[in-house]
Amino acid sequence: MTAGNSSRQETADAELARPHRIVPAANAASAGVLIDGVTHRFAAPGGREITAIRDVTIEIPAEGFTAGVGPSGCGKSTLLNLISGLMKPTEGRVIVRDAEVTDVRGDIGYMPARDALLPWRTVIGNVEFALEMQGAHSSKRRSDMARTMIEAVGLGGFENYFPHALSHGMRQRTAIARTFITNPDIMLLDEPFSALDAQTRVHVQNLFLSMWERARHTVVLITHDVMEAVALADRVVVFSSAPGTVKAAYDIAFPRPRVVENLLFNEPRFREYLKQIWSDLGDD
Ligand SMILES: Nc1ncnc2c1ncn2[C@@H]1O[C@H](COP(=O)(O)OP(=O)(O)OP(=O)(O)O)[C@@H](O)[C@H]1O
Ligand SMILES: [Mg+2]
Repeated sequence: MTAGNSSRQETADAELARPHRIVPAANAASAGVLIDGVTHRFAAPGGREITAIRDVTIEIPAEGFTAGVGPSGCGKSTLLNLISGLMKPTEGRVIVRDAEVTDVRGDIGYMPARDALLPWRTVIGNVEFALEMQGAHSSKRRSDMARTMIEAVGLGGFENYFPHALSHGMRQRTAIARTFITNPDIMLLDEPFSALDAQTRVHVQNLFLSMWERARHTVVLITHDVMEAVALADRVVVFSSAPGTVKAAYDIAFPRPRVVENLLFNEPRFREYLKQIWSDLGDD
């Protein structure tokens, strides 16, 4: 390669390495979820009000993986509650699949940080429970589907274990099976991997990624872990401290399928995204 070529290559590499800040647009047509000018306030002790999020507009693509990062208390969980219909925004609208959210929706899968498995049900009982809640399928069919899903998350042989007899990682894999089995249009994940040790976390993240890359549900992942956001998502939205507003957003251009540790160890642009997002968060 000549000197000229190599300097052109370096310029191109530098350009790729620079995280591109994007403006999240309000475009209902292409969005799986549109958060449109949403402000949410809660009543606080002493008759006061607290503004949890302020004037937030985010377009969440239907087949995309969107992650939200931001300081504690900036309204991230509130945002998920608004998307799921558990709460109604004080101002603005939440639109899911072209319809304004006015009530709890049945087509949304929600995975909280703590696995929230039912302690009196076995692994298979917990996974079947999601289908029972939908009133879907015969009990034989539910059981067959649950067994297949339990195999897929690597828990074959543990079907009849109760949650107390499982490790954290196994419980979280059961929760993943339970979230995927109903094939929800939209998955809301509130720090789902945060309780796992670093090594198990990467295993479970890869499992989640490989299942999602096949199914391509609309995913909204809330996390404190910037590395997790960049490794998993197509778009990372950075929130300011309370009351949460959208501070920045980045499209993450890594190809799929992704393997988390390959990005961590081999992808030079990974560090650039981390630096930029850390600096956004640090500015607060
Ligand atoms: N049900 C509620 N009633 C009153 N205030 C609430 C309620 N839920 C949340 N809040 C307030 O709204 C603000 C945002 O809370 P939220 O749980 O959405 O933050 P978060 O970004 O998810 O924080 P963390 O990262 O710590 O989970 C906080 O000040 C909190 O006290
Ligand atoms: Mg939260």
